[in-house]
Amino acid sequence: MMPQTANEALATEEVINLIVNGDAYRLTVPSHAMLDHVLREELGLTGTKEFCGQGACGACAVIMDGRAVLSCMTLAVECHNRSVETIEGIARANHPLIEAYVKHHCMQCGFCTPGFVVTAKALLDRNPDPTDDEIREALVGNLCRCGTYPQHIKAVREAARKLRGG
Ligand code: FES
Ligand code: FES
Repeated sequence: MMPQTANEALATEEVINLIVNGDAYRLTVPSHAMLDHVLREELGLTGTKEFCGQGACGACAVIMDGRAVLSCMTLAVECHNRSVETIEGIARANHPLIEAYVKHHCMQCGFCTPGFVVTAKALLDRNPDPTDDEIREALVGNLCRCGTYPQHIKAVREAARKLRGG
């Protein structure tokens, strides 16, 4: 088939090795493909959401090598030989954040929720006892159009307590 656009005409493909939620993948991806697209369309991990697609809302957050990153702003080829954790992995591990988010009604439409949980998980991985201000600061890049903001502090605090054995 003939390329449809100038970008498609210039597109090249690359082979990457990627570990996602502990599973190893070898994938052929367009060099311009974003990580969120690969997770959703190639691996069927649709828990990672794309909302703004411009790095402004946090809905697409995943953890890469221990740090929360915006997958809509991350080229898949940048992730070669790296380890990614998505909301599916966090749920599969039954992380206390999942139960706390349900208990404290942190979602209405739920579209932003995976991004919040992923970002909160990255925070708790590096800081097991965050203050309210530290939680707010960590979640500052996550937007919720339904206005659930006050609930997230309670849920993250409770999950942190559980992880510390409280
Ligand atoms: S979809 Fe990535 S930051 Fe909004
Ligand atoms: S729960 Fe609807 S956008 Fe946050």
